[in-house]
Amino acid sequence: MEIEGFRWLLSDAGQQLLAELSNDRDLNEANFLRYTTKLRKHYPAEAVTAALETSLLRRAAQAKFPQASQLYFTREALEQATPWLVANYRQRHFAAGSRLVDLGCSIGGDALALAQSCSVLAIDRDPLRLALLEANAQALGLSHQIIIQAADFTTLEFAGYAGLFIDPARRSNGKRIWDVEHYQPPLSTLERWRGQVPIHGAKVAPGIPDEAVPAGYDLEFISLDGDLREASLWWQAGQVGGQRKAVVLSSAGAEHSLIADPSQAAAALSEPLAYLYEPDPAVIRAHAVADIANQLNLTQFDPSIAYLTSDCLVQSPFLRVWQIEQWLPFNLKALRQILQEREIGRVTVKKRGSPITPEELSKQLRLKGRYEQTLVLTKLQGQPIVLLVKLL
Ligand SMILES: C[S@@+](CC[C@H](N)C(=O)[O-])C[C@H]1O[C@@H](n2cnc3c(N)ncnc32)[C@H](O)[C@@H]1O
Repeated sequence: MEIEGFRWLLSDAGQQLLAELSNDRDLNEANFLRYTTKLRKHYPAEAVTAALETSLLRRAAQAKFPQASQLYFTREALEQATPWLVANYRQRHFAAGSRLVDLGCSIGGDALALAQSCSVLAIDRDPLRLALLEANAQALGLSHQIIIQAADFTTLEFAGYAGLFIDPARRSNGKRIWDVEHYQPPLSTLERWRGQVPIHGAKVAPGIPDEAVPAGYDLEFISLDGDLREASLWWQAGQVGGQRKAVVLSSAGAEHSLIADPSQAAAALSEPLAYLYEPDPAVIRAHAVADIANQLNLTQFDPSIAYLTSDCLVQSPFLRVWQIEQWLPFNLKALRQILQEREIGRVTVKKRGSPITPEELSKQLRLKGRYEQTLVLTKLQGQPIVLLVKLL
């Protein structure tokens, strides 16, 4: 979408076409060209592209933004945007009423959430994204809370602001960048504003390696409905940093968090008991598995594997639970016989710490039968085991 096309979309004719397209259930990526040809008879080329793209992107954006049907995106900006529930959680790092800066605001995934409780200076160097943000702020009734500035933020000063947030580019030529100093801009760019702004937040790749976390920062992992979605680094003047936190969110509105205690004793070890627990990926990435195990009296099969077990059923927002129906040291022949006796024709294989691939195992099991079974391939104090489990 070009900026001329977007400006036209904001006109009465543009809004009318958008409304018609939003009710048209036949429009999809596959017939985009047919629609383009049809609409080009009545509207300019850039207007047609803007209207069709916006209609399709609004549908795709439903997964990230509950208000997607009112907002404007480009494909890349939508991919980069923070999901609303995550941004909404994260904005609470800043005290309500603060003056904040969003460095690289794009179409406003973070800026709009921040603007609900704070005033935000939103800066980007991409004029189209800024125009989209302006329209998005208006659509959500947040224009009075956002000042939009087109600039290269690396050259600016921010004395007097209470906090800043940055969401740097973490891909180059389609490849993920792990080193925070290779982000665009590098994370150390923030050091420039340490004397000016007391709280800095930065969105980083959820797979950030431990050794890439710079000294002085807290690290927070956020999952949404069980999927690890984001990580962010937080620096605060006068604090030493180094804390790791898991935040578990659900689309239904639940929010739970857990700070890992680095002095926590390792979880006790045991054989598999009645229940198997898989910690939420945010808990695993925050190194809080021992915390949750000790809090809930759960034991671990192997110190290097994030599976937990117990005799009594424990429910926790940080854990998925399976009932353990049977377990055995891994032995293909014995497993094949058990599955034959149970008339298992299809298996779902989960694994942690096992080199065997699910496809390989399914082929070797030569299954025949009418039932399904979930298998877990893992280790018991270094030795391979297999568990037959049922999700609770
Ligand atoms: C990953 S996107 C931000 C997405 C945003 N947080 C959201 O949730 O919608 C990064 C943005 O930073 C902008 N950007 C990168 N470097 C910049 C710079 N030096 N000055 C201004 N904008 C910059 C890009 O144009 C892009 O829009």
